[in-house]
Amino acid sequence: MELVSRFTMIDLIGILCIIACVLFILALKGLSSASTAKTGNLFGMIGMAIAISVPVTRSSDICWLPIMLIGCGGLIGYYVAMKIKMMDLPQLVAAFHSLVGLAAVFIAVSAYLAPHLHRIHMTSTFIPLSNAIELAIGAAIGAITFTGSIVAFGKLQGFIKRPLIFKFQHKLNLLIGFGLLISILCFVTNQTPIFLAMIIFGALLLGYLLVMPIGGADMPVIVSMLNSYSGWTAAGIGFTLSNNVLIIVGALVGASGAILSSIMCRGMNRSLFNVIVGGVGNSQDQAPASNSVSGGNVKVCSPEDAAFIIKNAGSVIFVPGYGMAVAQAQHAIKELSEILKKDEILIRYAIHPVAGRMPGHMNVLLAEANIPYDDVLEIDEINHEFPGTDVVIVIGANDITNPAAKNDPTSPIYGMPVLDVEKAKTVLFVKRSLAAGYAGIDNPLFYQDNTMMILGDAKKVCEEILIAIKS
Ligand code: TAP
Repeated sequence: MELVSRFTMIDLIGILCIIACVLFILALKGLSSASTAKTGNLFGMIGMAIAISVPVTRSSDICWLPIMLIGCGGLIGYYVAMKIKMMDLPQLVAAFHSLVGLAAVFIAVSAYLAPHLHRIHMTSTFIPLSNAIELAIGAAIGAITFTGSIVAFGKLQGFIKRPLIFKFQHKLNLLIGFGLLISILCFVTNQTPIFLAMIIFGALLLGYLLVMPIGGADMPVIVSMLNSYSGWTAAGIGFTLSNNVLIIVGALVGASGAILSSIMCRGMNRSLFNVIVGGVGNSQDQAPASNSVSGGNVKVCSPEDAAFIIKNAGSVIFVPGYGMAVAQAQHAIKELSEILKKDEILIRYAIHPVAGRMPGHMNVLLAEANIPYDDVLEIDEINHEFPGTDVVIVIGANDITNPAAKNDPTSPIYGMPVLDVEKAKTVLFVKRSLAAGYAGIDNPLFYQDNTMMILGDAKKVCEEILIAIKS
């Protein structure tokens, strides 16, 4: 009877694990499109609830310590998620990635010091070869993820202002990487603590050095790469803890992060290899980013002038950027576009893959304002439309329109595809000043003949344009 109930319990746990994994796959599928993202999130949450409850219910006695720890972690997570502003999400993601890395390092050390607690059966005084390899690799990827994510957090939060670039940087990274491999080999063969310490310290240093040289505009690629590293780290922890769900989920996150990085690299015209060895688009030859603003004639116009120009247009493209998110101008833009549509003006929105501060940032905000998905077009779909467009309204965007990416090989954003807004008949730039964007470089478009600047907070300016059009 006891045997039957034990088999039933094992079967049930297995089925729950499979259900959790299927839900995670459905979550990823759902998150691939704005219209299904909410359902995708729901699948992910249910899958996570199942995955967390399985280990807790696995043993016959209820283990209160993990339940309490999960409860505390859940409460902290809830508090942070409720407090966090939309703007600060990328840094939060980077900070959470660092915790995954740190957990992997702790688990590797604990598995080394007390293998029996992790159900690792020693052969004489040695950890079996397969476990030693998992442990060493898990510790290395975890430590790289930890320091890399902390540096990414510092950069996104604005604590670290400039990329660290020095001579022979890539060679030094390769040397440390090579040293790390040797330490892993030595640890696996003789399992002395000194080699585990060398793996951890070498990887911590490598994580720091890989992310420090990354320039402003390339941060999105590195955040997505760290996302992938954190997935592989979780899979490594899964091997050490013999937890199949963690292995599968870690591999899903690792693979999807790697695919996203590859897509972003293609979108940004960067090489994936350069991201992995650190440095992305930067090289020692490139000019450092500066906040200087070059001279030139700037035409400034009022919201009323802008309203007149827009009302006489046949087609308008909105280009939202980080400033729209800061100002929360999406609702005012939606109202403005509704009025223009009534006058039979063709309205579209152009989305750059790295507009804002996180992948899909603009899509989320536009969806929140109920802007129809069909009006929202990606860079490849809209770029050829600019030459035939009467008015482009750039709302709080800067780097994603900067033509230096196309024609200035010394620019830190050189090679990144940008929206060809300058090809439209008139370009209206809504921002508060002539200051640079995230990459810290001047935008020559501000001084172009067909450009007019409307200086002010994006939401306030859009509301004033709306009032002027209505009246
Ligand atoms: P940015 O180049 O950062 O430009 C945003 C502009 O918004 C600024 O120049 C700022 O000018 C203006 N602004 C700020 N607050 C405003 C407000 N309240 N009202 C009106 N304007 C305001 O943004 P972008 O064009 O969206 O490009 C994104 C940049 O961030 C890229 O360099 C990208 O690589 C980087 N990045 C992206 C991500 C992801 S995944 N999307 C992650 C990290 C970094 P004023 O100060 O003059 O107003």
